[in-house]
Amino acid sequence: MLKRTVTCGELRKQHSGQTIILNGWVNRRRDLGGLIFADLRDRYGMTQVVFDPEQGKELFAKAHKLGAEDVIAVRGIVRNRPDEAINTEMPTGDIEILANEITILNPAKTLPFLVTDRSTGLEDLRLKYRYLELRTKELQNTIALRHKAAQSVRKFYTDNNFLEIETPFLMKSTPEGARDYLVPSRNHKGRFYALPQSPQTYKQLLMISGFDRYFQIVKCFRDEDLRADRQPEFTQIDVEMTFVEEEDVMECTELMLQRVFKDVIDVDLDLPFPKMSYEEALATYGSDKPDLRFGMKIHTLNTLMAQSEFKVFQAVIGSGGVVAGICVPGGAKFSRKQIDDLTEKARSWGAKGLAFAKVSENGLESGISKFLSAIETKLIRKFDAQAGDIFLFIADEQSVTYPALGNLRQTVAKQLNIISKNIFKPLWVTRFPLVEWSEEDQRYIAVHHPFTSAVPEERQLMKTRLKNVHARAYDVVINGQEIGGGSIRNHTVAMQTEMFDVLGIGKEEAEAKFGFLLDALSFGAPPHGGIALGFDRLVSILCRVDNIRDVIAFPKTTSAASLMDGSPTTVSPQQLKELGIKIV
Ligand code: AMO
Ligand code: AMP
Repeated sequence: MLKRTVTCGELRKQHSGQTIILNGWVNRRRDLGGLIFADLRDRYGMTQVVFDPEQGKELFAKAHKLGAEDVIAVRGIVRNRPDEAINTEMPTGDIEILANEITILNPAKTLPFLVTDRSTGLEDLRLKYRYLELRTKELQNTIALRHKAAQSVRKFYTDNNFLEIETPFLMKSTPEGARDYLVPSRNHKGRFYALPQSPQTYKQLLMISGFDRYFQIVKCFRDEDLRADRQPEFTQIDVEMTFVEEEDVMECTELMLQRVFKDVIDVDLDLPFPKMSYEEALATYGSDKPDLRFGMKIHTLNTLMAQSEFKVFQAVIGSGGVVAGICVPGGAKFSRKQIDDLTEKARSWGAKGLAFAKVSENGLESGISKFLSAIETKLIRKFDAQAGDIFLFIADEQSVTYPALGNLRQTVAKQLNIISKNIFKPLWVTRFPLVEWSEEDQRYIAVHHPFTSAVPEERQLMKTRLKNVHARAYDVVINGQEIGGGSIRNHTVAMQTEMFDVLGIGKEEAEAKFGFLLDALSFGAPPHGGIALGFDRLVSILCRVDNIRDVIAFPKTTSAASLMDGSPTTVSPQQLKELGIKIV
């Protein structure tokens, strides 16, 4: 075989005159003025190869048959391109190879879509032929960047005395909020392992073992409803530390993120990241993962609107609800239809309606402006509004008003295209409630997870005013995405039992499900805490792509299927029999 002496990305002017061998894929063939040009591609780049009939008839005939994605080997001489043919867009654009020998290593069938332009295939088709989609420049870049990020993460933690320790994939199910993926046991018929939703319990046990500082880049598995930022198997940067408080974990995580952003995309993140309480995030951004790349903050208007004449708002205020609004810069140009569409959206988020008022030189304009005349000036001042802006108001229960306005804020910002892809705005969200009421389960569930501890001063309220108790938990958010979350843990049996109690997990259930952990906590467990970051999400932010599928080599669809190999599939009756399983 003609083995490559160089890659397709490295030849420059100074190599002119050398005889080289290239191996790669035919990106494109062009027949021009008696010459054949082929761009040869590999991971490292692209090089133009010229076939001239003067170099031999047989060679030229072979070149004539070249098709896109054929794999070939070419021997030739590097030569400078004539001035008019220099391509400044290509790193190798100063030179070309005059071929004198070619081997076709493997011709390719016509591809289902162009690897030079993935929009020529619908996503399902691209997922079916994912290995071809991975040939595209976009995915070659994201996958390489992912590698770089992983190396940077490993280097940071290694430099800071953390040990990377692997934990089992076949484990006992630990509730983390989602459904488990179960693995039947052949040796113990009727019993199952669960694939880890996270290594949460193991990393705590490692702290109890004295490993002090642990990290792992690790796969997690969750059988939950999928979205653009969720995959059934995804990767975490999982971290746990001993003898720490919130600040220690947060500071260490910030330093890691700062290092990764610098190493991978040469962006400087300012430290420390701002901190915002959960309550403030909700009331100001309508979300526990606020996007700080743009303003349009939510203002609560109960006091002001109580002085207005608008009956709808007064009724909501009277019944304990919240009236709040955002001011959209330049939004006065919204058409009736745009406003109707936003109203429809607001309804789909549970709001009963959407009221608006346009700001003009002469004050407010809209159907409801006459009811607002008494507070017009104060409203404009509160939002620091300019002529040409629009106010959007929602009045409802607190749990509807803020999230709906948060969604509205995000939607309008997208429509107006005011979100920059080139800025990165991290923050910490803190002071989460410890628990929340689950209508579905008719009991309290942990907002973070059951191993998260309560703020010490509030511990005595766990029996009386549970709803007011905060967790020692923190989320790190970047550009409106939850990148990570963690907490300081319950490190004594008493603390952990107290938490199980409020979650309605009785002594027996706790013993059955978490006996091993409770045991471990009783043998000298040090105070500890940690965090886990969604590595796929982090990489998608570094790559500035919207869907985490674009940073995962072999992702699943939103229905958790792999279109390439067809999994999940049925299995043979023999396999089921061995496992003692019957499909009903
Ligand atoms: P948590 O459940 O918040 O915490 O997960 C941590 C981070 O993992 C990412 N993530 C996901 N990414 C892609 N697809 C998913 N389905 C998915 N689910 C979660 C998010 C999230 O912030 N053991 C705790 C951490 C701890 O307490 O230390 C845990 O797993 O970015
Ligand atoms: P109405 O008086 O019901 O015709 O409503 C007048 C305007 O107020 C309409 O634009 C409604 O969409 C809006 N509206 C009604 N209820 C609410 C609400 N709960 N929050 C915000 N706007 C509302």
